[in-house]
Amino acid sequence: MTRIGLAIVVAACLVTACEQTAPVRQPLAFNHKRHLDAKMDCIQCHEQVEDGPIATLPLISKCMECHNEPQGKSPEEPKVRELAKTGEIAWVQVNRVPGHVYFTHQAHVTGGKIKCETCHGDMRTVSTPVVVPNVKIEMKTCIGCHEKRGVSNDCTVCHK
Ligand code: HEC
Ligand code: HEC
Ligand code: HEC
Ligand code: HEC
Ligand code: HEC
Repeated sequence: MTRIGLAIVVAACLVTACEQTAPVRQPLAFNHKRHLDAKMDCIQCHEQVEDGPIATLPLISKCMECHNEPQGKSPEEPKVRELAKTGEIAWVQVNRVPGHVYFTHQAHVTGGKIKCETCHGDMRTVSTPVVVPNVKIEMKTCIGCHEKRGVSNDCTVCHK
């Protein structure tokens, strides 16, 4: 990239927090709505969300628990078995706090009993892969809720 090009990208990032808004490409057209309509729970695929810092994204072995056999009629569905033959499936993480911020799902989901949709929107309506955050992560959102819920807003709670 030219120096001027880079300078423009950096400037645009400062204005729009581009690391959060540049759309990523996911390896497969995963459809949350289909799976949630089929009565699956978030924790079946995001296994650490109640007891760990990160929620985790599912391994292909999880998908193959059902997709060993064809499911439904979507032309995208046989690709699950194709991808399984090549090894692991490389989902791209979209929601991410910067390295200087400490966040943990356990405290919010299990401790604070906060619903996923408060921070991620209603996934039951999402039928295309997540390529940008449904809800933008901003310091003022974190602080606003902590204030309402009586949780400390000392800088060192979130910045380690
Ligand atoms: C508990 C069983 C189960 C698991 C686990 C599961 N699926 Fe599915 N999946 C289904 C069923 C059932 C359908 C068909 C739904 C329909 O057509 O109404 C489906 C449909 C699909 C489709 C077609 C989507 C569309 O737009 O119609 C894709 C792609 C897919 N699954 C990918 C995955 C991936 C990737 C994983 C792992 C992250 C996964 N599935 C895990 C049961 C499962
Ligand atoms: C069948 C497995 C499955 C179920 C059930 C499921 N998810 Fe997911 N989720 C995925 C996969 C695969 C991805 C990565 C691909 C994509 O973005 O669509 C993902 C991505 C996400 C992301 C974006 C992650 C990131 O990279 O930032 C969020 C947020 C999310 N899921 C929330 C939920 C919530 C909330 C529920 C329950 C209401 C749920 N998911 C249920 C498989 C699942
Ligand atoms: C209080 C807000 C909040 C709640 C509630 C919340 N999340 Fe998150 N989620 C975040 C933030 C912030 C990130 C980025 C974290 C990071 O960079 O480690 C994230 C990242 C994710 C990711 C991608 C990275 C990872 O951790 O694996 C998934 C998947 C996810 N959340 C799923 C869920 C599910 C499922 C629920 C409900 C059971 C949930 N989240 C509840 C704020 C929240
Ligand atoms: C919707 C409300 C809400 C939002 C949004 C929210 N928090 Fe929290 N947070 C809470 C609650 C409630 C607790 C206390 C949980 C408990 O009682 O265990 C908490 C606790 C914490 C803790 C303490 C965890 C521990 O283990 O002691 C950290 C760190 C934290 N939040 C960081 C963040 C960050 C960073 C964000 C933004 C990315 C954020 N929070 C957004 C409600 C929220
Ligand atoms: C409840 C969690 C939380 C608390 C408390 C908190 N922050 Fe943050 N902070 C974040 C998150 C999340 C980000 C990254 C997202 C963003 O930039 O909005 C961030 C980003 C930042 C940044 C870099 C972004 C920028 O605007 O340049 C600075 C500097 C910062 N915080 C300083 C502070 C200071 C100083 C305090 C104490 C007065 C504080 N923060 C308290 C969550 C928190």
